Amino acid sequence: MSTTSMSTVVTGITELVTNDPARDGLLGVVAGAALVVAGDRVAWVGPEAEAPAADLRVDLGGRAVVPGFVDSHSHMVFAGDRGEEFAARMAGEPYAAGGIRSTVAATRAASDEVLTAQVARLVAEMRRQGTTTVEIKSGYGLSVRDEARSLAVARQFTEETTFLGAHVVPTGVTPEAYVAEVTGPMLAAAAPWAKWIDVFCETGAFDVDQAREVLAAGAAAGLRGRLHANQLSEGGGVQLACELGLVAVDHCTYLSEADVAALAGSGTVATLLPGVEFSTRQPYPDARRLLAAGVRVALATDCNPGSCFTSSMPFCVALAVREMGMTPEEALYAATAGGAAALDRDDVGWLGVGSQADFAVLDAPSHLHLAYRPGVPLVSQTWVGGRPA
Ligand code: NIG
Ligand code: FE
Repeated sequence: MSTTSMSTVVTGITELVTNDPARDGLLGVVAGAALVVAGDRVAWVGPEAEAPAADLRVDLGGRAVVPGFVDSHSHMVFAGDRGEEFAARMAGEPYAAGGIRSTVAATRAASDEVLTAQVARLVAEMRRQGTTTVEIKSGYGLSVRDEARSLAVARQFTEETTFLGAHVVPTGVTPEAYVAEVTGPMLAAAAPWAKWIDVFCETGAFDVDQAREVLAAGAAAGLRGRLHANQLSEGGGVQLACELGLVAVDHCTYLSEADVAALAGSGTVATLLPGVEFSTRQPYPDARRLLAAGVRVALATDCNPGSCFTSSMPFCVALAVREMGMTPEEALYAATAGGAAALDRDDVGWLGVGSQADFAVLDAPSHLHLAYRPGVPLVSQTWVGGRPA
């Protein structure tokens, strides 16, 4: 028998968060639990006393287990450093999307090897903090060659790759010429490496009509749409996302009543990125308003060199609880099941028969410690596809 088809019973779980709607409460917690893993999937979940026999046994010695975090929004393919820009912000400068262009220059100058090593380092950082699924965008190449190779690099690490040629208009090109390039040759070069297409729909980046055009071209090339919208000001991006039935619209910091109503009336997930507000000193999105309206909410890092350089989902959970009024349960659910919904994935973000065996083992008796003990490295093991990663 090969090791991949062996079954393992994982015991010593004080509290297992399943996110299984068939169980009690938002998180479907099983106390004193065990989990059986067969191959890359979960084969059984329940009280430890009822656990079936398996080929191997792993005793976690009294720790909480949560579904692996699903980080549905990151920009990790880049070179260079913008620590000075962060320091200037902390001294009172506002965040300006124009900083993206300095990362573009550094990214274009970097070799594939340097870019790959950078993503590998950040993905490893994420793993150590319990992230098991990650989306990675391009968007710091902004040329046919550099967007395609950014996505080829990203594809080595995840199937959730997103073409973000429409991040900002690069220097020396008119917006009209650039949108034509994005929807033409750049899309053609990017499409083989990408699953999703995204646009930064914001004053200073792309307007609603340009976003609509880019998303339509992407759809015609077989890419599914998602959107950066309403990060820096109110605008039409959120309503465009809802009108088009996009899977997710991300940031959602400045929302009108009509935006909230549109989100509530759609299946579009609102992805909140509180690390951005932490790192830009902007007001946090109003998660309570969205949850009260019945909007599906996800949490993600937005890991990027400009607006938020964290790779930590536990940090985002703690911020969501402390700064956005989410309960610890709501925040953990948004960081796991919410992220899975934002990627339209039904195999991750929960733990039950048939799900991916992707989970984080916490050096804590309860998931509450994720927010209760901010800044503490609580993830003692991350299992991906049925084995410790
Ligand atoms: O999601 N909003 C646009 N893009 C990134 C920021 C990129 C940067 O500042 O380099 C974001 O916040
Ligand atoms: Fe982003």
